[in-house]
Amino acid sequence: VPAPRPSADQVHLAAPDPARVYDCLIGGSNTLDADRAAGVWIKLTAPDLFTTMQASKAFARRAIRFVSSQGIKQFIDIGCGFPNSPNTHEIAQSVNPAAKVLYTDKDLTVARRVEEYLRGEPGTAFLRSNVLNPEAILAEGVATGLIDLGQPVACMLAAVFHFIPEEVHPDGIVSSLRRAMAPGSYLILSHLASDILWDTKNNEETLRRATSDLYPRTKSRVTEFFGDFDLVAPGLVPAAEWRPEQAPDHSTPALAIYGGVAQKN
Ligand SMILES: C[S@@+](CC[C@H](N)C(=O)[O-])C[C@H]1O[C@@H](n2cnc3c(N)ncnc32)[C@H](O)[C@@H]1O
Repeated sequence: VPAPRPSADQVHLAAPDPARVYDCLIGGSNTLDADRAAGVWIKLTAPDLFTTMQASKAFARRAIRFVSSQGIKQFIDIGCGFPNSPNTHEIAQSVNPAAKVLYTDKDLTVARRVEEYLRGEPGTAFLRSNVLNPEAILAEGVATGLIDLGQPVACMLAAVFHFIPEEVHPDGIVSSLRRAMAPGSYLILSHLASDILWDTKNNEETLRRATSDLYPRTKSRVTEFFGDFDLVAPGLVPAAEWRPEQAPDHSTPALAIYGGVAQKN
């Protein structure tokens, strides 16, 4: 059984941390022994999870490329996690070198690593902030001079909202973001699914015990987070099926994470 979880605003090196365990699952290097132990435990009890997280990361990268190709030049990457190249600004700037990215995450270790990584990277900034306070993220984004809310922006919530329980009103959070975005803006969101069956041993409980409280949701519930934005084709789908670069492999069950991109009219 994994070590006890740390309390809110401290860096605990001996306990697994959700951001670092995720980094371990997507093959990153920002992990410590406790995170790798949790990763091994997840692999034993929930073997699909590695591919599920990788599918989410790959979805986010395709979505960034897509919205960049539609002319989006500014991004707010909320719950960005540790650097893992290609990062949002690297993808966006490969399409448009002038693209700007505000990264945000609530995690202290993520903050330190991202700030170090971004030093000297033009068009980027990091803000340590909790998505529970979206107004602060938007205000800081504007204050840095990086984000102009009068122009279309892409807000990213990639594999983040399933950490947000219903009690703290996720709809209010995401609607504050949607309201502040100019017409033409995009919302990019991926979210663990509660209505796609996991492998028999591969369930929500495993994740929760390994890392943090998690709130997988149904497709119709996740769709509500897009509000009155228009989902671009193919809509909200298992993340691996969102505009895949190669034909999807339908011989294996869909991975239990949704991905979708929607635009404000
Ligand atoms: C599973 S990782 C996803 C990282 C990145 N978005 C990606 O798709 O690769 C989730 C990240 O969300 C962050 N996070 C969780 N709850 C958050 C909150 N309430 N506010 C801001 N960040 C949060 C964690 O610290 C972690 O870095």
